[in-house]
Amino acid sequence: MLGRVNHVAIAVPDLAAAAEGYRSMLGANVTEPQALPEHGVTVVFVTLPNTKVELLEPLGEASPIAAFLAKNPAGGMHHICYEVADIIAARDRLKEAGARVLGDGTPKIGAHGKPVLFLHPKDFQGTLIELEEV
Ligand code: CO
Repeated sequence: MLGRVNHVAIAVPDLAAAAEGYRSMLGANVTEPQALPEHGVTVVFVTLPNTKVELLEPLGEASPIAAFLAKNPAGGMHHICYEVADIIAARDRLKEAGARVLGDGTPKIGAHGKPVLFLHPKDFQGTLIELEEV
């Protein structure tokens, strides 16, 4: 069911500083900031030859990463995103297997304009999983 790793996401307290660090110290290509109000985050992508790293900063009052950053003030790895061919089929299979899909189970449109869902970290070794249909 799982395809490629689409990206690894790191929550950061200061997106501009994080993007600059990846550019100047790591010599990476970093995209321009993109506000995603529906997800409560602003993101940039570090584009790598084999995958991407997503840097996330809270956007708005009810950001879903605010609590994570309160616990991890310097930032930290927030989720990993795997590609799937059919997100509805993946969701139904996971629900049948007893995994918890976050929210109401309806895919939202993610940073790449494709449908995404998140799976409860307690069902997957303490790691928040994002599925993206590609
Ligand atoms: Co993501």
